[in-house]
Amino acid sequence: MTLIDGKKTSSEIKAEIAEEVKNMIASGKKAPHLVAVLVGHDGGSETYVAHKIKSCEEVGFVSTLIRFEDNVSEEELLKTVDKLNNDADVDGFIVQLPLPKHIDEQKIIEAINPNKDVDGFHPVNLGRLVAGLDTFVSATPAGIVDLLKRYNIETAGKHCVIIGRSNIVGRPLSILLSQKGIDCTVTVCHSKSENLKEITKTADILVAAIGRPGFVTGDMVKDGVTVIDVGTTRVKSDQTKSGWKLKGDVNFEEVSPKASFITPVPGGVGPMTICSLLKNTLKAAKK
Ligand code: GUN
Repeated sequence: MTLIDGKKTSSEIKAEIAEEVKNMIASGKKAPHLVAVLVGHDGGSETYVAHKIKSCEEVGFVSTLIRFEDNVSEEELLKTVDKLNNDADVDGFIVQLPLPKHIDEQKIIEAINPNKDVDGFHPVNLGRLVAGLDTFVSATPAGIVDLLKRYNIETAGKHCVIIGRSNIVGRPLSILLSQKGIDCTVTVCHSKSENLKEITKTADILVAAIGRPGFVTGDMVKDGVTVIDVGTTRVKSDQTKSGWKLKGDVNFEEVSPKASFITPVPGGVGPMTICSLLKNTLKAAKK
């Protein structure tokens, strides 16, 4: 069994991005600028955004964090999006999700200029992905494909089963993996899927993206499977300084002995998603 080290791979990719930024600056261009908009104080969102800002610093990007309290109005948030859309100094920006209930998330996403939508959540960018056109691919699916490539995991003709059909992970990943050049045969499973175990047992590559800790058990996979665990549920822990730890969707103890490749949680897919965001921002800056 080979443990897929997302932390190490992401460090390598960040070093490559940092080199590109150095060359950009040496040739008289400005450093890419990413803005993150964070609403409220959700623990998970705070951590993710802090990692995004720190990663920007590591690769030489300029970053700005715009914070709002939970009670910010939809109108005010839309005004901020409009301002960022029209700010020539900003190459790309993200609005961290989830947003408070009184704000229509989709409305905010659709207000973002697709050319600055480095999350790849705007329907124009999702549509371009479906059409096989150049686009900003959302961070988690792009990070997963990078991991498969960097570990030379065969995808052509292989059966990839994805558990989860979210707009952020499952759905775009299914499209990406079936594209020419990657060439997987893809099955998307979800909460209404019947005979789930029978399907997952046929997977050469199994992606778990449902947000249910330990959902994938040993009897659900075949020998030699590659397992990608996207789950990052925060659970209380007395073993960590913060009092929290991340749990994946895969029962690692049961599944890892049967797997040829497997991602850990933490340290698997998570660090890769930030790399994809940085890559998208670099791409936006070059446009
Ligand atoms: N919430 C969880 N993942 C993401 C992400 O990739 N981007 C944004 N904007 N919010 C998220």
